[in-house]
Amino acid sequence: MNEKVIKLLNEQINKELYSAYLYMDMAIFYDALDLDGYANYYTIQAQEERDHALLFMKYMQNNGLKVTLDAIAKPDKVYATVLDPLVAAAEHERYVTALINAIYHEAHENKDYRTMKFLDWFVDEQMEEEDNADSMINRYNLFGQDPKGLYLLDQEYATRVYTAPSLAL
Ligand code: FEO
Repeated sequence: MNEKVIKLLNEQINKELYSAYLYMDMAIFYDALDLDGYANYYTIQAQEERDHALLFMKYMQNNGLKVTLDAIAKPDKVYATVLDPLVAAAEHERYVTALINAIYHEAHENKDYRTMKFLDWFVDEQMEEEDNADSMINRYNLFGQDPKGLYLLDQEYATRVYTAPSLAL
């Protein structure tokens, strides 16, 4: 396998773990506001990001590649309003999409069809992640500034349950 593809795959493990950290930090922010539903949503989001990291790790291992874990950066965003993490999450998911696309591009350049096929799941997943993040912003803007509306949104996000990723390696 091409060295640059390997490096990007390994780096993506760290990026996904950072995503988990970022979403845990958002869950902490909402927990402090007693918005337990939003906190639940981002706690589960963090679990999903850890799953993404494990999928990259497993893919590398299945291909006999050495995995190296690096330090996870500190989530350093400061949130002041209920809306702030929602906007940060949407921005972050677009950044992750760009990272996935960059690995895909490199795999394509190197005719690494196996890695492209592996990444297809993440390409679809990123569309869903961006859509969900945008929807949370839109729904907050529509309903969330009214206390009753915010209460109902929070109740709804409290119902989110963890499901394991549909991709199995
Ligand atoms: Fe691992 Fe939210 O993308």
